[in-house]
Amino acid sequence: MTKRSLEPGTALTPVPAVLVSAGTMTSADITTLAWVGTVCSDPPLISIAVRPSRFLHHFIVEGGAFVVNVADSSHVRQLDYCGMVSGRDVDKWAACGFTREQGSVTSVPLVTECPLSIECVVEQTLHLGSHDLFIGRVVAVHAEDHVLCGQHVDAAGLDPVCYVTGQYRRMGDLLGRVGFSREADSQG
Ligand SMILES: Cc1cc2nc3c(=O)[nH]c(=O)nc-3n(C[C@H](O)[C@H](O)[C@H](O)COP(=O)(O)O)c2cc1C
Repeated sequence: MTKRSLEPGTALTPVPAVLVSAGTMTSADITTLAWVGTVCSDPPLISIAVRPSRFLHHFIVEGGAFVVNVADSSHVRQLDYCGMVSGRDVDKWAACGFTREQGSVTSVPLVTECPLSIECVVEQTLHLGSHDLFIGRVVAVHAEDHVLCGQHVDAAGLDPVCYVTGQYRRMGDLLGRVGFSREADSQG
């Protein structure tokens, strides 16, 4: 099949859409981000790319911490809303009916209504151009029982929202488990 050449751009899709909180229990913002990634497992590091114009940005710079809250699909409307309006103009917590919950390590509030919250302390900031990349060290993970399979987060239980070029989608069918391609080798 012939491939067409496109203008260079961030064509990677799908990506997770999450709610990132920053600030304190008395003054905090919450914003939808999709440019979020796992970048290292030891130490555990997560990156978020934030435009300096976002209200969220100054909370991260001043507080040196953020929380990645993973909403389930029942909160997709709130997830969209938090990416449409600024905390400068609206109290998004109140508008979405979200509850602030004290984190265990940082001063950043978690979103109670999200089944998974990951507390991060900023280790590095890279000024890349349109976005600043904050690399955060994971210092605590809070997960509801139903999203866990042993010590691991189970994506099927979590039911996260994927951002797919202008759309929100659920995860699809199970295609295989890690290592399944080698099972025939060991049987054969
Ligand atoms: C699905 C979705 C994904 C987004 N991803 C990002 C992102 O990765 N980085 C970013 O700076 N803005 C992103 N935005 C835009 C911000 O969420 C939006 O500008 C928000 O209103 C900023 O709010 P704030 O000013 O309270 O921080 C995204 C918006 C949506 C709807």
